[in-house]
Amino acid sequence: MVSIQAKILNSGADYLQYEQVSVNQCLLPITSEVDADGHLFIGGSEVTSLVARFGSPLYILDEVGLRKACQQYQEAFKQFYPGTAQVIYASKAWSCLAVCGIIATEGLGFDVVSGGELYTALRSLKELGLDPEGKIYFHGNNKSPEELRQGIESNCTIVVDNWWELEQLAQWSDQKIRIMLRLTPGIECHTHEYIRTGHLDSKFGFDPHDLKKLFEFVAGRSHLNCVGLHAHIGSQIFESQPHQDLAKLIVTWQKQALSYGLQIQELNLGGGLGIRYTEQDDPPSIQSWVELVCQGVIEACQDLGMSLPKLMVEPGRSLVGSSCVTAYRIGSSKTVPGIRSYVAVDGGMSDNPRPITYQSVYRCVVANRMTAPLTETVTVAGKHCESGDILIHNARLPKTEPGDVLVVMSTGAYNYSMASNYNRLPRPAAVLVNQGEANLILRRENYEDLLCQDLLPERLLESK
Ligand code: LLP
Repeated sequence: MVSIQAKILNSGADYLQYEQVSVNQCLLPITSEVDADGHLFIGGSEVTSLVARFGSPLYILDEVGLRKACQQYQEAFKQFYPGTAQVIYASKAWSCLAVCGIIATEGLGFDVVSGGELYTALRSLKELGLDPEGKIYFHGNNKSPEELRQGIESNCTIVVDNWWELEQLAQWSDQKIRIMLRLTPGIECHTHEYIRTGHLDSKFGFDPHDLKKLFEFVAGRSHLNCVGLHAHIGSQIFESQPHQDLAKLIVTWQKQALSYGLQIQELNLGGGLGIRYTEQDDPPSIQSWVELVCQGVIEACQDLGMSLPKLMVEPGRSLVGSSCVTAYRIGSSKTVPGIRSYVAVDGGMSDNPRPITYQSVYRCVVANRMTAPLTETVTVAGKHCESGDILIHNARLPKTEPGDVLVVMSTGAYNYSMASNYNRLPRPAAVLVNQGEANLILRRENYEDLLCQDLLPERLLESK
């Protein structure tokens, strides 16, 4: 067996042992190996056998990789931050019992943005016998009154996003409510460049121009226990500078709060660390990203004469993205002479809406031909009735045949969580693999599941 991280996919990277790899820098899950017949194994399971057993498309999640990403965050904070730190998982990346459960057992908390994500996080903690106290932060720019109540009753910290929400909470004066205030930082990021704008055009968070009014309002409501400030810049970010700038800004806000009598103890710098989707992508390692964030906060505190806060971050993609692949069966193909060749798989935009939504670029391999020469350039098409349902343009593949198993990499984040039933495709199953064991963590939907919300009004039946 050959560990293929360095060999095939990360050529040029300066690591060979997965112990040294930052999980977010891997294209294939860190436990990936290839046997002498050129077959891909993940978490000790052979991928084509998993597909034969569980069907396709199939999300395959590597438990070792997911746990390792959690540990890399935790260890980096231990190493670089002398104060208290807390890593919470942005569960929007993939919210289900098993993913939340694994992350909870690694000691991380949760960022949830809806009643449904809250319910999932709470259930996973409960099933594992873990105490949710202090673990769940409830985000969202338009939480319903029911969601707010649900959050308060389950002792979440409410990350207050806007005046409407704050005014509702102000009326809940019969109980103490633990809140954070989310502010729009005015730091914009793009994947390969970043611009700082004076223009704060975002639907999330309070405008920092309102800071005075905001702090006065909160200071005058004793039942609102304002423990922290929050800001998130963006997602799939490769630079560290924006987060260092953010550190400075947020400590400045924390200092301003003092003059209103608000002792803010927690600063949350959001998520956003990018992952590798292609060989060209070069995100910083989890360790170096955490180091720079810590440095930024420590320096800002020194400059502004503040003591170190409890420091929080809330990554999603970089925890779960790189440890999962999606395996499909190849079906039809078509060559348009002089233009391109299409190879179609049995899923597409319903299980991975990112290419059609964000023009995201993915890479793939053929699980049963890992050592075959890459002789073809093909367009990997999905099976949806939509011309734009293309998973990968110009994929370099070996010669394939119907029935081969095509594996798209780095699909752990914002794939299952954004999946749909477009064209009434049942959502795929997901398996958790570890040391040769494979456990179903999300059952494949069947046609009855597709109809389980459908109703036929009596009237229609009577008229038949
Ligand atoms: N915190 C807040 C407040 C967020 O809005 C997000 C992501 C995160 C944390 C986690 O960011 P991450 O570490 O995953 O970059 N669907 C898009 C991504 C949307 C991200 C939304 N917010 C995609 O597929 O690329």
